[in-house]
Amino acid sequence: MCGIIGRVGDGNALEPLLTGLENLEYRGYDSAGVAVQNGSGINVEKRSGKVEELKSSIGEPLQGEVGIGHTRWSTHGPPTDANAHPHTDESEDVAVVHNGIIENYTELRERLAANGYEFTSDTDTEVIPHLVQYYLDAGYDSEPAFRQAIDELEGSYAVTAMVSGEHVLYAARRGSPLVVGMEDGEYFLASDVPAFLEYTDSVIYLEDGDVVVVDEDGVEFTDLEGDPVVREPETVEWDPEQAGKGTYDHFMLKEIHEQPTSLSQAIEGRIDPAGGRIALADFEPGTFADVDSVQFVACGTSYHAALYGSLALNQAGVQSTALLANEYSVSAPPIDDDTLVIAVTQSGETADTLTALRRAAREGAATLTLTNVVGSTAAREADDALFIRAGPEIGVAATKTFSSQAVMLTLLAQRIAADLRGEPPADLEALLPELESMPAAIDDVLAGSAAKTVARRYSDSEAYFFIGRGLGYPVALEGALKFKEITYEHAEGFASGELKHGPLALVTPETPVFAIFTGQEDEKTLKNAEEAQTRGAPVIAVCPDDHPAVEVADDHLPIPDTEPDLAGLLANVQLQLVSYHAADLLGRPIDKPRNLAKSVTVE
Ligand code: AGP
Repeated sequence: MCGIIGRVGDGNALEPLLTGLENLEYRGYDSAGVAVQNGSGINVEKRSGKVEELKSSIGEPLQGEVGIGHTRWSTHGPPTDANAHPHTDESEDVAVVHNGIIENYTELRERLAANGYEFTSDTDTEVIPHLVQYYLDAGYDSEPAFRQAIDELEGSYAVTAMVSGEHVLYAARRGSPLVVGMEDGEYFLASDVPAFLEYTDSVIYLEDGDVVVVDEDGVEFTDLEGDPVVREPETVEWDPEQAGKGTYDHFMLKEIHEQPTSLSQAIEGRIDPAGGRIALADFEPGTFADVDSVQFVACGTSYHAALYGSLALNQAGVQSTALLANEYSVSAPPIDDDTLVIAVTQSGETADTLTALRRAAREGAATLTLTNVVGSTAAREADDALFIRAGPEIGVAATKTFSSQAVMLTLLAQRIAADLRGEPPADLEALLPELESMPAAIDDVLAGSAAKTVARRYSDSEAYFFIGRGLGYPVALEGALKFKEITYEHAEGFASGELKHGPLALVTPETPVFAIFTGQEDEKTLKNAEEAQTRGAPVIAVCPDDHPAVEVADDHLPIPDTEPDLAGLLANVQLQLVSYHAADLLGRPIDKPRNLAKSVTVE
């Protein structure tokens, strides 16, 4: 997910472009860039890092009334200056910004390179300016050259382009959002309304297949063949901060609903179902062949993801343990040079986790960071870093980053086991197609969730229990943490078998029990849930529709059938929604819960 913006109008384009990029940083910020054109051609400034760093690197203010800009969340190619957008052809006659994934970029790149066009980046996007230039070189005018280039792209795109010497922007959309803003002869093209909302509230949302040509005389809307299409302007009622949430009341709900996209980005290019393997090209083949034990260190939600990954690794036959980073200084297990210590931290800045990571490195362990933020301290200090590509998470309560962390750790567990054994684990063949269909499965959970009804039904309870077994156990812990941190109500997660060893004493008709079923010894979890139910506690089963627990439980939160390795992650989406709606019913400040910070940078 990236943010793009284009601007045509009177006066310098640079300021509205940079303002727009700052407003789009929630869509990605591992690199940024602008291209502005004046009478003498196109000038480009782009670099890895945040928009703030781009602004400080722009020396002589770029002059020109037409420009494009981009904030990138890397999916193809690491976040380097060369991979930042805008991308251009060699002579900088064509500049392009793009959000989406060009699926046929390899064949386009090979064809263009064979015709002498030289590439300077690892990105899929760079084929677009070269393709436009290819048709300009063949004698096409700018607009037909742009249309022809777009027509050859397969995959998803929101593209904005400009050609040197023209006071014009060309844009097209398929599968990635693109919206036009207009006011008194100033026109914007952007991924999302927040980019230009402080300049205009008059917008037109483009549809898939639309092509737009914008100059100071106005905007022309057509289809790819050039036939006119009618797009009516709307007035946006949002204030700028609200605009960042789109149509959602809170960032947390927006981020829960972003999980199909964020998971797609996490697994993009990292699994190879046809080849029956985990690709994870982030690491050379055999990287983990000498690892004899794995220690995970993390805090909070990331600890729950780490526990998930550790259980997955143990189930893949590799010895591992998940440790609270804030306990590591007093209880770290022995480390030798075959120990791999994995820090799991979405922000990459959590002080407890950094301290644990540094101790592990001092004692000779190989270190790896799994994080959401490129360039974060944990990513820079570890021997290796693996990025979950979830896009910035604004809500203090972690949601999409948990599911992306857990999926990435499931991939990593399979890859570590494969490196150690020299062959993929037996269950990988069944796991790969389920991994590939996870985004769609989460869409199903989001579409049909009864979480709001369940949250309302149990809203006056004394306490809330969450129980699970195997990979359902970390999900129970996470469900309880989510609930307590945004509702401020008492909630506890337990391994389902633990209820009878103490917590059952707390059970009353006022303590609803959310029972997570993953397909791992579910009959035992059901028996534990019934122990609570016979003492009056209502049981809410989180399981597939055809599961035996549905007949026993008082309520049911459905999840699609899937592999035990992934069922807990679908259940987790239901629990995220229960917590969100329970907190909303209580009128809590959901995105900013009291006493909490998004990143705890002190020990
Ligand atoms: C989770 O909702 C909280 N925001 C908190 O527990 C968080 O997971 C923890 O502080 C770790 O943060 P990190 O992933 O950035 O290291």
